[in-house]
Amino acid sequence: MSQRVLTTESGAPVADNQNSATAGVGGPLLLQDQHLLEKLARFNRERIPERVVHARGSGAYGHFEVTDDVTDFTHADFLGAVGKRTEVFLRFSTVADSLGGADAVRDPRGFAVKFYTEEGNYDLVGNNTPVFFIKDPIKFPDFIHSQKRDPFTGRQEPDNVWDFWAHSPEATHQVTWLMGDRGIPASYRHMNGYGSHTYQWTNSRGESFFVKYHFKTNQGVRSLSSEQAAEIAGKDPGSHQTDLLQAIERGVHPSWTLHVQLMPAAEAADYRFNPFDLTKVWPHQDYPLKRVGRLVLDRNPDNVFAEVEQAAFSPNNFVPGIGPSPDKMLQGRLFAYADAHRYRLGVNHTLLAVNAPRATTARNYGRDGLMASNPQGRYSKNYEPNSYDGPVETGRPLAAPLAVNGHTGTHEAPPHTKDDDFFQAGELFRLMSAEEKSRLVANIAGGLSQVSRDDVIEKNLAHFHAADPEYGRRVEEAVRALRED
Ligand code: HEM
Repeated sequence: MSQRVLTTESGAPVADNQNSATAGVGGPLLLQDQHLLEKLARFNRERIPERVVHARGSGAYGHFEVTDDVTDFTHADFLGAVGKRTEVFLRFSTVADSLGGADAVRDPRGFAVKFYTEEGNYDLVGNNTPVFFIKDPIKFPDFIHSQKRDPFTGRQEPDNVWDFWAHSPEATHQVTWLMGDRGIPASYRHMNGYGSHTYQWTNSRGESFFVKYHFKTNQGVRSLSSEQAAEIAGKDPGSHQTDLLQAIERGVHPSWTLHVQLMPAAEAADYRFNPFDLTKVWPHQDYPLKRVGRLVLDRNPDNVFAEVEQAAFSPNNFVPGIGPSPDKMLQGRLFAYADAHRYRLGVNHTLLAVNAPRATTARNYGRDGLMASNPQGRYSKNYEPNSYDGPVETGRPLAAPLAVNGHTGTHEAPPHTKDDDFFQAGELFRLMSAEEKSRLVANIAGGLSQVSRDDVIEKNLAHFHAADPEYGRRVEEAVRALRED
């Protein structure tokens, strides 16, 4: 049969793709019209559940190349030699809105990297912000509910957004970040990426370091004002997608330089604040940036649904030499993602081309399930231990063991000398230029003044006062002025 012949899904030639089969001319349709039934039924099933957060995104392939020696800190093979290259897939995203939202909005951006290493896929699922709103995963569903659409009004509600923050003083740092100039990146190419959490690296001598990742954009950081963003979002809701797609198609390949901050594990307990608190950054004076390598994106996916919508990143996909820290938020995420993937994509999502290892093969005894297409069969056993030379464990843990102590219970984090939720928000405010401060104050006041309850407004104002007296005073004045209008 010629390659140009249209076929049904079972490969039989289609006689007519313009007219459904009818009982007589002008008569009702025939149930035997397999091509029509198949087309309509498949169409009904084209959508899958969107990601519960980060629904809207764009992705691209590229590579990561090591430029600096970090073998004193980790024995991860893909970081093991200067010049070593690893294929990557990166998905950028907005967070709060659903798939039909717009790109140019005030919202954090996702920055999820899959490194296809020879020791398995390593997923670093970060954001464009070095910190986050909360520090315990038990608050995550409530936080997201408050930021997404209200179940009654179907809109994002300032009342809900600010009510949650009123009860979450630890959010003040990230709120300051989000309402500042970097809150609306001009495009995905013009923003940094951060692992945000603290992770653990282990070197070949078994020594442990805590590590934070920073991907600095080589395109320069560029942002939009609220007014520019509103105009762009109206004209092209997919503005970030358009920008990334067209740049790569033109051969303009965006790149980021990866730096890390490294803390010897023994220093964590006595650091002045909890180094595993996701609402805080580590000052660079304490732990300077160390360059590691360069990430370049140079290939657009051929099929957005297959490769971007079905991409599955999980913070618990580690490789030898890299592991989690005790950061509670990270620990919660180690469960949440693969669970979401099993619901959103099914148990065999790891067999999809974008998610499967590329520089090695997955060899294990997981079998079957919906849409299984793994080739193991015939003489390969589906149990272990076995006597048939099947794959076996290495006995080598991915990362060095971490000490724990105390009793089980719902504890707050261990106390450090400077744990308060506000000082880094104040430091960020004081770093800003006069113009940036004015825009920050105007952005916060624009949102907070729309809140209907005075007690919610007052609680939020108290947080800005606690961060910095000038910050608090200016936000308060701006909110009161807008409320009186
Ligand atoms: C997506 C949960 C915090 C970055 C998701 C998804 C879930 C989730 C369920 C959808 C996954 C999917 O369907 O593929 C959580 C929970 C968190 C948390 C429970 C806190 C306890 C964070 C933090 C960051 C982050 C702190 C960044 C540092 C992302 C990114 C995506 C995502 C980038 C999109 C991944 C992609 O492009 O497919 N999150 N999240 N999340 N999350 Fe989180």
